[in-house]
Amino acid sequence: MADQERYMITSALPYANGPIHLGHLAGAYLPGDIFARYCRLKQRDVVYICGSDEHGVPIMLRARAEGISPQEVVDRYHAMIKESFEKVGMSFDYYGRTSSPVHHQTSRDFFEHLAEKDIFVRKTDKQLYDPEAGMFLADRFVRGTCPKCGYEDAYGDQCERCGTSLSPADLINPRSAITNARPVEKETTHWYLPLADFQPKLEAWINAHPEWRPNVLGQIQSWFRDGLKDRAVTRDLPWGVALPEAVARAAGVDASGKVLYVWFDAPIGYISATREWAAQQGDPDLWKRYWQDPQSKLVHFIGKDNIVFHCLIFPAMLMAHGDYVLPLNVPSNEFLNLEGNKFSTSRNYAVWLNEYLEKFDPDSLRYTLASNMPETRDADFSWNDFQARHNNELADILGNFVNRTFTFISKYYDGAVPARGALDALDQEMIEQIARAAVEVGEQLDAFRFKEATRRFMDLARFANKYFNDQEPWKTRKSAPEKCATTLNLCAQAARSLAVLMSPFLPFGARKLWQMLQLSGTPEAATWEGIADLQLPAGHRLGKLEILYSKIDDAVIAEEVQRLKQALSGANGAAEAAEVEHISIDEFKKIQLKTARVIAAEAIPKAKKLLKLQIELGTEKRQLVAGLAEHYRPEDLVGKTVIVVANLQPAVIRGVESQGMLLAVEDGGKLIVITPEQPAASGKPVA
Ligand code: 2FM
Ligand code: ZN
Repeated sequence: MADQERYMITSALPYANGPIHLGHLAGAYLPGDIFARYCRLKQRDVVYICGSDEHGVPIMLRARAEGISPQEVVDRYHAMIKESFEKVGMSFDYYGRTSSPVHHQTSRDFFEHLAEKDIFVRKTDKQLYDPEAGMFLADRFVRGTCPKCGYEDAYGDQCERCGTSLSPADLINPRSAITNARPVEKETTHWYLPLADFQPKLEAWINAHPEWRPNVLGQIQSWFRDGLKDRAVTRDLPWGVALPEAVARAAGVDASGKVLYVWFDAPIGYISATREWAAQQGDPDLWKRYWQDPQSKLVHFIGKDNIVFHCLIFPAMLMAHGDYVLPLNVPSNEFLNLEGNKFSTSRNYAVWLNEYLEKFDPDSLRYTLASNMPETRDADFSWNDFQARHNNELADILGNFVNRTFTFISKYYDGAVPARGALDALDQEMIEQIARAAVEVGEQLDAFRFKEATRRFMDLARFANKYFNDQEPWKTRKSAPEKCATTLNLCAQAARSLAVLMSPFLPFGARKLWQMLQLSGTPEAATWEGIADLQLPAGHRLGKLEILYSKIDDAVIAEEVQRLKQALSGANGAAEAAEVEHISIDEFKKIQLKTARVIAAEAIPKAKKLLKLQIELGTEKRQLVAGLAEHYRPEDLVGKTVIVVANLQPAVIRGVESQGMLLAVEDGGKLIVITPEQPAASGKPVA
């Protein structure tokens, strides 16, 4: 073990407040699993960790909505997510959960250690408090109007429409998500991680990693440019890891009702799950070898919305603590879309992993997602692409090669691998291709290029098929039996090599093929280096041929496409019906809608979604900021008569004042400006 390369691999802990969908799988899980499986075949010393993230406000909100306890919510989804992960072949060494006692203790110890080192700063200031519910309103417990884009249902920590990260006090017209009451301000004390103090060290560390993905580095650099700010790492909430009593006492603060911020405890979940794994191995200190020994290579697989936490905040925590290694890389994926639209959990526009697995083979999904992984830009999942990948590549290339090899050997060699004779140039090439594929797929995986690695491994199957064709064993069987035997020997060898090479991507097919080859153990227990060896002895008996991947019918795919279309319209309808909140005519009359003419429009530097418009509203001239830049060219708006909310409180958006809001229809992600059906003067009321 001593001189093996050592890897500590993690995949982001999913929130236990709903099932996993394909977007999640493509983002943080599948690449982590492929990499972990590959590392094990390389005989590296690997621990691969994940678990459920069971704290945070969304879980509490869900519990309230369903009238059950947060623990009941997380118990339900923890079990569901864990089962789906097992079925899709995630090879975690341990899948933990952050409600576990070990996790609570580990997080508190970590926090106390930082407090003892005097890392935190404490601030007492006013925060929003719901007088009816009798509690502080952290993050998502407050909703209100986004100060940037005017969206009225923004959360206290983020506006879902424009993506701006907010704090509850930024919201215009805040209201409690629990009682709808108008919150009042009340004093409270919190602990902050002074990230600015860590910026020089973080910058030096990041600068030493130019090999990281450009999209990850880009996001980090923009945080650096803005300057890192203090981050509150405690909250007034009844659900989470309790603030350590000793820390609160030393500060003269009442600890009751205070917990650690979910993003403080969640990444510590990686450590606590490794501790639980170590205890399970019968060696409770073993976790230190992966977290504290400088030889250990820590790799976090995440989606792009988690970059700041894994590349700045958690590393700062690890630096502050002092005993831990820092990540070697954080291969973060961009987002996956679904049939051209964004996944939307709230609208139920998603393919849920548990539902997928009831109908289809896990390998088909793994292959489709790996072939089209959102590594450097957003990617799209479509059922037609899924079917094409499965039928044309898994079935027609890989499956077909295995099929014809087994059929031929069974028919003409009584199911035993024939001996090789003299090798011709093509045979040599086949042998070389096997060795080269192992090296090249390995290089791609070590560089976290999963798409390319997947393509490269399928290329070997493609080559093997071509080799079979070019050698024409159906002819040489009579004309040159020794040559025919050599061809089939090499095809059988290639099938064995493929079983190992494919196993990180297609673990289920790989095992099936291994069994068909009548090999002992599993392909996972083979070695990457051994892929290049021709290990099947002449005379080795093959097992019964089975179809590796049978084709998926058009009708089955059409049903899924249809279901999704219905889900999109149906779920929207249902959500609207459920969420309708009636307003009185008097309330409606408060909104002054008027016609206006656009007299000038221009882009706003560094705000790629926004346009600055000058409008004429009767005799008055005004300026508006509108999120139309991705939908209209400025010149196409000039001269249009539009509808605006004329009495909206002015707001400054990206440093530009906006005196009103323009109305547009959102359809399939596109914004269409509303104009009167016939020419109308500006400044006229819309009745
Ligand atoms: O975004 C999320 O789904 C978070 N639950 C990820 C947490 S990752 C880690 F830090 F625990
Ligand atoms: Zn917004």
